[in-house]
Amino acid sequence: MKYKNILFISHCPSPNTIKLSNHICMKVKLLNPNTSLICSNPFETSIKSFDLIDGVIISTTENFGYMAGATKDFFDRCYEGLREITQGLPVFYYVRAGLDGQGSQIAINKIMTGLKWKQVLPPLILRGKWQNNFIQKVEDQSLAFVNGIEMGIY
Ligand SMILES: Cc1cc2nc3c(=O)[nH]c(=O)nc-3n(C[C@H](O)[C@H](O)[C@H](O)COP(=O)(O)O)c2cc1C
Repeated sequence: MKYKNILFISHCPSPNTIKLSNHICMKVKLLNPNTSLICSNPFETSIKSFDLIDGVIISTTENFGYMAGATKDFFDRCYEGLREITQGLPVFYYVRAGLDGQGSQIAINKIMTGLKWKQVLPPLILRGKWQNNFIQKVEDQSLAFVNGIEMGIY
């Protein structure tokens, strides 16, 4: 079976979002050693980062009713180039939103449609006051995504 590479584009500006991101990186490496999870922040992610990538996980915070500026910057720089070379790419994303999350979800879904990426799992919106069970929710969905990519289901 071909070794699979997953790009994790994670914007984590706060201790809680760093905790989520680090947890995913650690758990995926531990529980699915047959895949490679490449962790990247949005500013350092370019079209080149998608070479040999089989799936993408994106995490963003919601700021001012929209995805974080860092995440938007990644899409601004890479959208046109990616549209040509990544059609059908499986993707899963989650949003950490202190209040709402809907603005980010609407905006990201439009971009996913434009890119023709395949949302193989529904987005996870981690809304409201921080709860420790956010970590388990993100772990469950991320592992389901990574395992699905490994097995070629998606
Ligand atoms: C400048 C700023 C703007 C924000 N705007 C929103 C917003 O429009 N909607 C929302 O749900 N949360 C908003 N938040 C809250 C962030 O989503 C939240 O702080 C972030 O996801 C980090 O979560 P944490 O505090 O649990 O680490 C905002 C936070 C900041 C700092």
